[in-house]
Amino acid sequence: MSHVSVTVNGKTYQNDVEPRLLLVHYLRDVLGLTGTHIGCDTSQCGACTVLINGESVKSCTVFAVQANGTNITTIEGLAKDGELHPVQEGFWEEHGLQCGFCTPGMIMSAVQLLQRNPNPSEAEIRHALEGNLCRCTGYHNIVKAVQYAAKKMQTASPAAAR
Ligand code: FES
Ligand code: FES
Repeated sequence: MSHVSVTVNGKTYQNDVEPRLLLVHYLRDVLGLTGTHIGCDTSQCGACTVLINGESVKSCTVFAVQANGTNITTIEGLAKDGELHPVQEGFWEEHGLQCGFCTPGMIMSAVQLLQRNPNPSEAEIRHALEGNLCRCTGYHNIVKAVQYAAKKMQTASPAAAR
């Protein structure tokens, strides 16, 4: 067993885990944070995307022990005080999901995009989400959802922008 200590959504967890345990299984099965999905076994779908120290990472591609000492944000950590994150709101308002399976990963990737590039073009949005596959929407409303969030985050006061 190996020891892992991580901060997830602002809370610190310490566990002894098998060295081969993948981060996505740690989040889902050990911590019970099942909002991070598993959509493939080939590291292609992006449903498992989380932020590790602010970088979007497919959590099925790293071992839990490799995340030791890091700060992780999952979909469960985005809403604050009962208020949806602007990207979550965008998906809601623009119908950016159908079955919803890809949505947590899409949203985490979009959050990172907007942190780096607050005013992305449509092409930049599509490029940033290339690693996230959706079987339902045809992506159009997903792009609109990210554009909605970008606009909202830009018009929000700096204190409200997260
Ligand atoms: S579960 Fe598909 S990329 Fe991680
Ligand atoms: S909404 Fe179903 S996979 Fe994207």
